[in-house]
Amino acid sequence: MNNIGIVRAHTNIALIKYWGKRNNKLFLPMNSSLSLTLDAFYTDTKVTLSDTYDKDSFYLDNVKQDANETEKITNFLNLFREAANIKTKAKIESYNHVPTAAGLASSASAFAALAGAMNIAAGLNLDKQTLSTFARRGSGSATRSIYGGLVEWTMGYNDVSDSSFAIPVDNADWNIGMLVIAINKQQKKLSSRIGMQQTVDTSPFYPAWVKCAKNDLTAIKKAIADKDFIAMGEITEANGMKMHGTMLGAVPPISYWEPDSVKAIQKVKDIRDMGIPCYVTMDAGPNVKVLCRQTYIEKIRDLLLTEFKPEQLISSRVGSGIIELSEAEWPN
Ligand code: DP6
Repeated sequence: MNNIGIVRAHTNIALIKYWGKRNNKLFLPMNSSLSLTLDAFYTDTKVTLSDTYDKDSFYLDNVKQDANETEKITNFLNLFREAANIKTKAKIESYNHVPTAAGLASSASAFAALAGAMNIAAGLNLDKQTLSTFARRGSGSATRSIYGGLVEWTMGYNDVSDSSFAIPVDNADWNIGMLVIAINKQQKKLSSRIGMQQTVDTSPFYPAWVKCAKNDLTAIKKAIADKDFIAMGEITEANGMKMHGTMLGAVPPISYWEPDSVKAIQKVKDIRDMGIPCYVTMDAGPNVKVLCRQTYIEKIRDLLLTEFKPEQLISSRVGSGIIELSEAEWPN
């Protein structure tokens, strides 16, 4: 057996955040979330299954990964091997296409690409919805990267793994873009996985967060259906702030912010006050992401250049869902 799958997956940024699991083993979230897939940041992954391999191996950007990193991949691939009823070992080659200043290497694009490539290599032919439930088991946010545009990850019910999957909501082809303000490319000190667990376990604000996230999701889906960009932006910004407020309530308190994050948020508010609609969101790191109209993105970038270096400001269009690549397109 020598079966190959090559897939590209784009990263996504949540407008309604996922921050906490109700089932750690199955990666079932406490609330449904909704994201925008970005064109500018992606992972290309090739899976080769061969009977000649006696163990899995994993190369990231041409660097062979250690036993610890490879074990995480092996555990993930085992889900597919069980489904396909095979034991064949794999060679995984992955390239992260992320501007170096951004430090935005993302588990979302990584596990979505790996899921897509393994689905092909193992001959499983899972449909996208089922595939998103597999991607979820690598990293929650990877669930949403199976699709392009605006994507909901529905929380599902009880401990039923199949009930929690991604749903494409809108292709976001109505003048939407996102500008990333890269504040710091250092690896985050506290992973999202540990940070969210600590928040669930200790923040007295957590039940309120879950309630707000539910309401925000309903409201943003209406804004999207109405193509009401301003409402969408306002809900996005408020939801992100509520997530960070909930983290501040954890014991010990969690904050991913840096002084330049606050500077970026303030500057975006100033630009908004000039009459240009733009809204911030932040994840488990200091970078600030600006949801804006695609037609205003270069104008906003110019205005931010007074505070930030050109390489810190990365504009992105809306990205597509996972794409199968041919061997001729590999490596790229
Ligand atoms: C703040 O998907 O990285 O970006 O499921 O433990 O791998 P794990 O966490 P991850 O968390 C992402 C958190 C977030 C918000 C979001 O993307 O919804």
